Amino acid sequence: MIILKSPRELEIMRTANKIVAETHAFLTEHLVPGISTAELDRLGEEFIRKAGGVPSFKGYHGYPAALCISINEEVVHGIPSKSRIIEEGDLVSIDIGVYYDGFHGDAARSYGIGRISEEAERLLKVTRESFFKGLEEAFIGNRLTDISHAIQKYAEGNGFSVVRDYVGHGIGRKMHEDPQVPNFGKPNRGPLLKAGMTLAIEPMLNAGTYQVKTLDDGWTVVTRDGSLSAHYENTIAITENGPEILSKI
Ligand code: MF3
Ligand code: CO
Repeated sequence: MIILKSPRELEIMRTANKIVAETHAFLTEHLVPGISTAELDRLGEEFIRKAGGVPSFKGYHGYPAALCISINEEVVHGIPSKSRIIEEGDLVSIDIGVYYDGFHGDAARSYGIGRISEEAERLLKVTRESFFKGLEEAFIGNRLTDISHAIQKYAEGNGFSVVRDYVGHGIGRKMHEDPQVPNFGKPNRGPLLKAGMTLAIEPMLNAGTYQVKTLDDGWTVVTRDGSLSAHYENTIAITENGPEILSKI
């Protein structure tokens, strides 16, 4: 069941997502070679709590940290660790969820650390752009998979693959609500988009195969072939005036 949000509820989700966006902006100041992913996690959690939020991911199905930080061939759900040190040339994806006043916000960004390969640079750009290709389809009267199809077409048209095993989602009082939002598929399928729908659209693109596997820690998802992966996510609302990105600075 897809839960539509009232204007009052959307206002709370704007605040939750503003904290998400501000946490991302704050963390970029600390995202330099030599810092551990555990330290980034600590800084992120502190920032979220000072802003009046609670990290959505911590404790979610037993997840042990506030943020997910996934490096290079890691796709999503990388667990922050004291021994994982950010290095020049890394491609780093940071995923942040914030619970505030009964609602969740969720957004992910990927960055290159210092000089990165041309392929990594292009993967970052195409992953971000694929989100906006999807967003262009997020208007009333379209169907859900118009978003999915636009993302896949753009990603594959640029030579990258789209992860199948993890998808975007509805979001609100729960972090994961209906509907699932795949980043692939035929257009014109699924529910009609309606005002008040709130979706986390989150393309995950790989440089090689779309196939992934989960490491023995039970969380970290990596590409099967070890190729690079990038992630870009925003929480958006469908409105009468088109899509609104809630997790925007
Ligand atoms: N942004 C991710 C998602 O949409 C975050 C879930 S990570 C978890 O599913 F650790 F909380 F599971
Ligand atoms: Co999400």
